[in-house]
This record gives sequence, C-alpha cells and structure tokens, in this order.
Amino acid sequence: MSKIALVTGANKGIGLETARQLLALGYTVLVGARDAEKGSAAAATLGAGAHFIQLDMSKSNSFPEIASRIESEFGKLDALINNAGVGLDWGVPPSEVTIDQLRETFETNVFGVIALTQSLLPLLKKSEAGRIVNLTSNIGSLTNQSTSRELKDYNAAVAYCSSKSALNMFTVLLAKELRETNIKVNSAHPGWVQTDMGGEQAPMKIEDGAKTSVFLATLPEDGPTGKFFHREKELPW
Ligand SMILES: NC(=O)c1ccc[n+]([C@@H]2O[C@H](COP(=O)([O-])OP(=O)(O)OC[C@H]3O[C@@H](n4cnc5c(N)ncnc54)[C@H](OP(=O)(O)O)[C@@H]3O)[C@@H](O)[C@H]2O)c1
Repeated sequence: MSKIALVTGANKGIGLETARQLLALGYTVLVGARDAEKGSAAAATLGAGAHFIQLDMSKSNSFPEIASRIESEFGKLDALINNAGVGLDWGVPPSEVTIDQLRETFETNVFGVIALTQSLLPLLKKSEAGRIVNLTSNIGSLTNQSTSRELKDYNAAVAYCSSKSALNMFTVLLAKELRETNIKVNSAHPGWVQTDMGGEQAPMKIEDGAKTSVFLATLPEDGPTGKFFHREKELPW
C-alpha cells in the first residue's frame, strides 16, 4: 500500500508543487483546498494518485469529519503537510496592525493548524512513520529577526511573523510530546519563493520552494524531530 500524504492549501503555490513531488515519489496525495472548484482542478492536473479533499483551515468544526473520511477511505495518514497559510499585514508596522488582522491570521496559520493536527493524530499514529511538517518562515524566527543583517530593516507584518513563531513553538512542544512514537514533527522555511504570496521578485522557483517540505515529509527513521529547516540545513528558532 502506498504512503498517504495530506497537503493543505494544495491548489496552488508551494502546496501544489509539494503534492506533485510527493506523487512522483509514489505517495497517494490528498489535495487539501478550501475552494472545491480550484481543488478539484488541481487534483485533476496532478493526475492519478491525487484526491481532492475540501478543507478550510478556518473551519475547525469540519476537521473530525474529514479525519473520519480519510480513515474510512485510506485507513491511515503517513504525512501531514500543514502548508496553507495567509499573510494579511505585509508592510504594516506593529504599531498599526489591527486586532482583526491578527485574529484572522492566527485563525488560519495557528489555530487551524493545531486543530487539524489534533484531529489527524490518531491516523498519523497508525502510520509506521508519521511525519508532520509545519510551514513557517525565517521571518517567524526570533533569532533571525533580531540578529540577521538581511532582516535589519524589516519591521512589518507582526501578525504573519508571530503566527509563524507560534507555529514553531507548536512544532517543538508536539515533537517532545510524541518523542516516544514513530511520528516526527518539524518546521519548514521554504525560502522566499515565487508564488502569489512570495511575489515575482522572489529569488526561488516553486520547484525548489517545495523541497524542504518534501525532505521533512519523507525523513528516515533516524531523521530529526522538533527542528526547523530550510532545505537540509537546520535554522535557529
Ligand atoms: N512564498 C514564500 O516566499 C514563503 C516564504 C515563507 C513561508 N511561506 C509559507 O509557505 C506556505 C505556502 O505559501 P505559498 O507561497 O505557496 O502561498 P500561496 O501561493 O498564497 O498559497 C497559499 C495556499 O494556502 C491556501 N489557504 C489560505 N487560507 C486558507 C484557508 N483558510 N483554508 C485552506 N487553505 C487556505 C490558499 O488557498 P486559496 O487559493 O483558496 O487562497 C493557497 O492554496 C504558507 O504557509 C506560507 O506562509 C511562503
């Protein structure tokens, strides 16, 4: 039986490419998307082995039913790639961010990810080698933000950045909780990638932007857990 992976926000960008690369490795891929038309079209483009699953990260009350559906159709889950994310406060300084921007960002980037992961944990525990990959960002790293010369003048998007810091903390604590299991939990910084979020000026192509997620979704038994990576290089929190 092939390995089963769920990629959230897989209708475009890094998520779609991650789905494509996992399919090429022989995985069955559940293509998570909130929009049925876009999600079905993405699954159809990806071809055999790709199955659309409607999944809105801000609707956590739908997650138990989604877990039941995956269980009845596939029996288990080998990899959960928490890729869906939003950035709603680009260029907004911390002194001006609104509580609504913070709430909406955390709803998708943090609360949704934690709730979905909790709903799917029983299925990941049925895998011989469960892998959880949380897409965060180097701009969510407190160390990078406070020391990197590259980010010296960057003082915006506190909603987005802090949502990714919060998700990094979830990675560390969940990895500790699951350390005696077969499940590994890691955070991925994909790089600055040419997607709708990253923009055209981003230096990295989507094919390379998906590589960190694929690396962490396919880690061997002796691979790391509770760490933060860009490609195969560990990053500071
Ligand atoms: N691109 C970069 O340079 C970069 C850098 C660091 C980290 N990241 C992270 O990498 C991940 C993927 O980013 P990307 O560049 O591929 O972004 P993207 O092109 O904007 O795609 C984001 C995906 O997330 C989905 N999404 C957003 N809100 C959702 C919700 N409530 N429920 C379900 N799906 C939702 C979008 O669906 P719709 O099409 O329906 O909106 C889309 O499929 C994100 O977590 C992002 O924060 C990206």
